[in-house]
Amino acid sequence: MALLPILCFPDPRLHIVAKPVAEVDGRIRTLCTDMIATMYDAKGIGLAATQVDVHERLIVIDVSEERDEPLVLINPELVWTSPTSHLNEEGCLSVPGIYDGVQRFDTVQVRALDGTGKSRVIEADGLLSVCIQHEMDHLMGRVFVEYLSPLKRKRIKTKMLKAQREAER
Ligand code: NI
Repeated sequence: MALLPILCFPDPRLHIVAKPVAEVDGRIRTLCTDMIATMYDAKGIGLAATQVDVHERLIVIDVSEERDEPLVLINPELVWTSPTSHLNEEGCLSVPGIYDGVQRFDTVQVRALDGTGKSRVIEADGLLSVCIQHEMDHLMGRVFVEYLSPLKRKRIKTKMLKAQREAER
């Protein structure tokens, strides 16, 4: 098990569009294990492979209280979205310390392979639904701050770059 470094906005690699996972083999199972460990270590509720600089369609999520129900979604595809949506306050491990509102579908159905390569359809609402939409955006190279106004995004970018410079010192 290894903890993987998480890319931080505005790293251009966060905008790479992920390719489908060709086969759920040993390499992918190791990646899942490492991503789950990395997510728990960073106290996040979701992590997309894009954020650890692997550009394949794989996300891990755990929205449980006890942090003992990891969910692996490989090659996730939305098969249904509810006609209703709501504004949700979001944060992201790639944009530490920033929280803002994003409009998300209330309920989604997603088809994906699990960690063993088995195909399943999950219906999600509440936090799980939001988390799935947020992580699937990462696979499309989209970070949640891109939904905000250009001015807000510019401020966040400046703040992140300053924090990164200070951390390197
Ligand atoms: Ni994120």
